[in-house]
Amino acid sequence: MTWTDHRWIPSVEDVTATIERGAATAPVSSPKSAPPAKRPSSRKPGGFLASSNGKKAVMAVTGVVMVLFLVGHMLGNLKIFLGRDSFNEYAHALRTLLEPLAPYRTLLTIVEVVLAASVVLHLWAAISLARRARKARPVKYVTKKSQASGYTTHIMRFGGVTILLFLVWHLLDLTFGVVNPKGSGSAPADRMIAGFDASRWWVTLIYVVAVVMVGLHLRHGIWSAFQTLGWANRTRYRALKGAAALVSAVLVIGFLAPPLAITFGAVK
Ligand code: HEM
Repeated sequence: MTWTDHRWIPSVEDVTATIERGAATAPVSSPKSAPPAKRPSSRKPGGFLASSNGKKAVMAVTGVVMVLFLVGHMLGNLKIFLGRDSFNEYAHALRTLLEPLAPYRTLLTIVEVVLAASVVLHLWAAISLARRARKARPVKYVTKKSQASGYTTHIMRFGGVTILLFLVWHLLDLTFGVVNPKGSGSAPADRMIAGFDASRWWVTLIYVVAVVMVGLHLRHGIWSAFQTLGWANRTRYRALKGAAALVSAVLVIGFLAPPLAITFGAVK
């Protein structure tokens, strides 16, 4: 079920599930001598993860992991306002935390593995949910799509692909230094400040577009996660929608502050 304009609208899956439940519980006449008919199992092969609810849960959990990463990443980036040394120390600490108990880069490697797994699972769940929705409606009986759902679907799919493309550029730029004027062996702060130099305004523009996409994706994604968790109801509707918008806005502003400050010369 989904909330649309303050009303609960049953989804195709809800209606299908209701029909299936009805069919499963309807009395079946069988000859007296025949063994009792086996009740068909409502469980789909593959268990919880194969169900729509399972996939939505995967999307919510991996989404939460990525939001937590983004909050930490944004706070770390803001260190550039405290000076190059502060930012470099933070980047160094990311690699040396847990030393000498664990080898260099242990924590960062764990973060990278968890993040990569979250991105893959999030994508897998999104694609299979989209396929299932398409299959559930083989005949296009709705001739005119509601504007709201069309916009959300487009922004989530187009935004998701844009974010993935941005990530490739972003890693080549600031993690590996391949497309950065300072190259790979430079200090993280030097790479960041050279990367967003005013002469490379187009790089800043790429980041602005990508981060706004991240914000729009998050606003809807966080709200969907609230629904999946079962928190969304009539009384909390406004508060939860507001919370999703607030978290997204804080992340957009926090992420865009360093590149814009560097491009406009406030951080050198
Ligand atoms: C727009 C402002 C952003 C800036 C200035 C920025 C800056 C950086 C920097 C400097 C690094 C390298 C860190 C290091 O090697 O020490 C990095 C890595 C990374 N960033 Fe960003 N970032 C921004 C936005 C984003 C966004 C929106 C995402 C995700 C959608 C993201 C995802 C990542 C990932 C996954 C890494 C690799 C982390 C790792 O090394 O394991 N960043 N970023």
